[in-house]
Amino acid sequence: MKPMHDQIKLKNISKSFYTNSGSTELFNDVNINFCSSTSYAIIGESGVGKSTLLHIASGLESPTSGEVFFGEKNFWSLRASNQSLLRLNETAIIFQQYNLIPCLNAKENIEFQSRINNKHDSDYISAIIQDLQLGRLLEEWPENLSGGEQQRVAIARALAAQPKILFADEPTGSLDEKNSKLVLNMLLNINKKYNTILVVVTHSLAIASKLEVCLELKSKKVSTK
Ligand SMILES: Nc1ncnc2c1ncn2[C@@H]1O[C@H](COP(=O)(O)OP(=O)(O)O)[C@@H](O)[C@H]1O
Ligand SMILES: [Mg+2]
Repeated sequence: MKPMHDQIKLKNISKSFYTNSGSTELFNDVNINFCSSTSYAIIGESGVGKSTLLHIASGLESPTSGEVFFGEKNFWSLRASNQSLLRLNETAIIFQQYNLIPCLNAKENIEFQSRINNKHDSDYISAIIQDLQLGRLLEEWPENLSGGEQQRVAIARALAAQPKILFADEPTGSLDEKNSKLVLNMLLNINKKYNTILVVVTHSLAIASKLEVCLELKSKKVSTK
């Protein structure tokens, strides 16, 4: 049986926003169990709440009601310092807009999270750099890299941290077809090689079809497609 601590579980999750123009409920009573070594797609129309769901699953944003479990730990019942440790040690996120740190070069960006969470492993990072074909770009500043190169650095940074669960929010949304394929294959390789849970938000059905479980967010509910 797969170990419990490798799982993230969303239990009866609802999310509403309250603004000057009233309240909006994005979704309610969402239940998802993310299991180790499995890859997931989250699909749905623009504005339906995919990114918000990803932020809730990764502990970045709190649900309006319901519970998020990291293994046995009820995330929002923990003290803030322990929540931060779980985010740092167990999760990594890849964003559509890369979010590299502009004043660090590519190598420093790649090593950033792994140096903070004490999982810095030079051999492992060298292998990632090689896999992602980043060797000749290590001294470059983010602003001098193309979109595809920046995303590969962002992926290397996420992988270097050795997360148990890797979240990616439209990771190929800003890339051409060639780089999209490269990036997706990288993510799938990592998922299998290191048993990392992979959760990819996408509106591409072609990408979703490459992942093992496809979850659709529609009419405030999540269902398996
Ligand atoms: N902090 C917030 N306050 C108010 N509305 C928000 C907030 N975050 C997201 N929303 C709204 O929730 C909706 C869903 O957003 P999002 O999760 O980004 O959808 P998706 O990723 O599916 O496009 C959008 O209409 C967005 O404007
Ligand atoms: Mg989004």
